[in-house]
Amino acid sequence: MKELIDKLERERDLTDAEFRLLLECDDADAVAYLAERAVAVRKRVYGTDVYVRGLVEVTNYCRNDCLYCGIRRSNRNAERYRLTPEEILACAAHGYDLGFRTIVLQGGEDPWYSDEAICAVIRAIKAAHPDCAVTLSIGEKSREQYETYYAAGADRYLLRHETADAAHYSRLHPPELTLENRMRCLRDLKEIGYQTGCGMMVGSPYQTTEHLITDLRFLRDFDPQMVGIGPFIPQHDTPFRDEKAGTLEMTLRLLSIIRLLLPNVLLPATTALGTIDPQGREKGLLAGANVVMPNLSPTEVRAKYLLYDNKICTGHEAAECMNCLAARIEKIGFRIVTDRGDYRKGDKPTWQTT
Ligand code: SAM
Ligand code: FES
Repeated sequence: MKELIDKLERERDLTDAEFRLLLECDDADAVAYLAERAVAVRKRVYGTDVYVRGLVEVTNYCRNDCLYCGIRRSNRNAERYRLTPEEILACAAHGYDLGFRTIVLQGGEDPWYSDEAICAVIRAIKAAHPDCAVTLSIGEKSREQYETYYAAGADRYLLRHETADAAHYSRLHPPELTLENRMRCLRDLKEIGYQTGCGMMVGSPYQTTEHLITDLRFLRDFDPQMVGIGPFIPQHDTPFRDEKAGTLEMTLRLLSIIRLLLPNVLLPATTALGTIDPQGREKGLLAGANVVMPNLSPTEVRAKYLLYDNKICTGHEAAECMNCLAARIEKIGFRIVTDRGDYRKGDKPTWQTT
């Protein structure tokens, strides 16, 4: 196993059979070695810096009906809300004062916000805080729409691919949502010039090792600047309410593999990871992650953005979350930095240069 892990670090690739061995091995020493190499690589590129992104959950209205998601349109029990542009700007200003230099605007696909309104918010954040990056995570749009937001000043875009296997994708989504369009969006985003983030849910219903290998192969080929992965967690008002959650162990193992596959990637230890284990985010950083995304949404709406059950930090103020995370992160030998935390371009892997 050790040789395999060294090969992954050196060549940034493995055969499918080798990926399978690594994903299925139950040797605790090998998994510890994998995490150790991932942290070493992360320190070589980013030192002990941890980038923070202030997450503003702008709306929980969504026109989509993803089977796993608590804010899907057919969840009649979701208490819907949307923030006004003024409220979003107030969150951004508060975040700026707390040291955030990236504001992430995330939400369901909510046609209530026109493209002009979205662009106005982006421009206003950039005008008030020119040293801040703006990340969007507002779902599938046309290429023209992505171009418009980019021209307004958006820097990054997060759009998880969820699974890179088309048949699996169709079991997690209604028929009108296709992997083909998700991939089209990701290609458009990258070509336009966004720092682009994709990623899969770990342990989603029907997921097999084969699917995860397909995900890793996709990540290797697409070479995104960011990868957001987190465990699937059931939500009580969705069709997947009785499905098993993804595990901490597999999420950590995948974080380490992704760090070795894409050494320079911006890799968050996500809220979902912190939800399935009280130390989940710290463990994520100790497996190779280098980003955390504390919540900047107003306290009144947090408990309504319930993608999954038992989500952490739903009752806290932004400042509390930031202080709590900063203390936890220092305790494990890393430090939060006040920095945009842009992607650092690295050298090409050997499989691309030869
Ligand atoms: N609408 C945007 C989109 O589709 O990219 C952004 C919001 S969406 C709620 C953000 C992410 O939440 C999804 O990409 C999905 O991976 C994650 N998510 C949704 N439901 C989840 C669940 N039950 N467990 C874990 N993650 C979930
Ligand atoms: Fe739209 Fe989850 S179904 S954000």
